[in-house]
Amino acid sequence: MTLYYSTDLILKAYYFQQGGKHMKIYYLSATGNSLVTARRLARELDEDVTLESFRSIRLLPEIETGDTAVGFVFPVYFADVPREFLACIQRMKFRRNTYLFAIATCNGVPGTTLRTLSGALETKGARLSAAFSLDMPGNALITPQAASDKRLNEFPGRLSQIARTIARRGQTSIPRTPVWESLRSAAVRAIGPRFVVNPQKFHTVETACIGCGLCARVCPASNIIISNNRARWGSNCIHCLACFHWCPKQAIHIGGLLTDRPRYHHPEVSPSDLC
Ligand SMILES: Cc1cc2nc3c(=O)[nH]c(=O)nc-3n(C[C@H](O)[C@H](O)[C@H](O)COP(=O)(O)O)c2cc1C
Ligand code: SF4
Ligand code: SF4
Repeated sequence: MTLYYSTDLILKAYYFQQGGKHMKIYYLSATGNSLVTARRLARELDEDVTLESFRSIRLLPEIETGDTAVGFVFPVYFADVPREFLACIQRMKFRRNTYLFAIATCNGVPGTTLRTLSGALETKGARLSAAFSLDMPGNALITPQAASDKRLNEFPGRLSQIARTIARRGQTSIPRTPVWESLRSAAVRAIGPRFVVNPQKFHTVETACIGCGLCARVCPASNIIISNNRARWGSNCIHCLACFHWCPKQAIHIGGLLTDRPRYHHPEVSPSDLC
């Protein structure tokens, strides 16, 4: 234990000596869970932290990070890293020995997410030093209220633990994915995009849509335009469900197996935080 902590302290001293304490956290968030996680982490760390959203980097051909510590905070989609967020990470360039960490917020089924991310970074010659999954209320399959409340109550304590590890540049093991979990992840990936969140089935109820454009503003992929006072979807959907959850008239329906899902957003987040 003592050895473990002293190794961490030496590594931490090394990272800071390499160029100060600047940290960048790249995040993706549709209903606020990951945004609140990134914000709170930034508050708890006694260092200079900048948050950078997926929407601000998604079209950059190359993303030069230049920071001594880089974090990724994002939701799990279909038991994995959201494809478009992973593509951004694959276009990033890190300084040598950058401390890399990740927090995947999810609804209890992180699947192969952290392994995927770790593998993707390895192919770039980078190492994911610390990785965590964090249970939050679900926004695709909606978590029962009691379980959601419990997760939100436990969130500050869990996040503080994570923040302490990151503050000392701690290392964690990347959880192995047991065979049954890999199978479950494969099933989620096969079924989810067709039957649970399938952008081809998104539509508005004409009489309910007031053409306010909020769905277009919160869409991190600029995939919605308002035409003739109605939302219309393009072909760049990243499945995040921001449009569905934030529409003030609940005019958006997403079809699929669970047509009448309740709307959710994290209580500390408003649409302007995401636009
Ligand atoms: C398309 C989609 C697929 C999802 N798939 C999973 C999943 O496989 N496992 C899981 O635990 N949560 C899954 N979720 C739930 C989200 O990961 C979780 O609610 C997350 O905290 C939402 O983050 P946000 O509020 O920052 O957008 C999924 C959500 C969406 C929108
Ligand atoms: S947010 Fe809802 S009401 Fe406003 S334009 Fe979009 S679908 Fe219509
Ligand atoms: S269209 Fe809706 S679900 Fe698709 S990326 Fe935009 S906000 Fe997310």
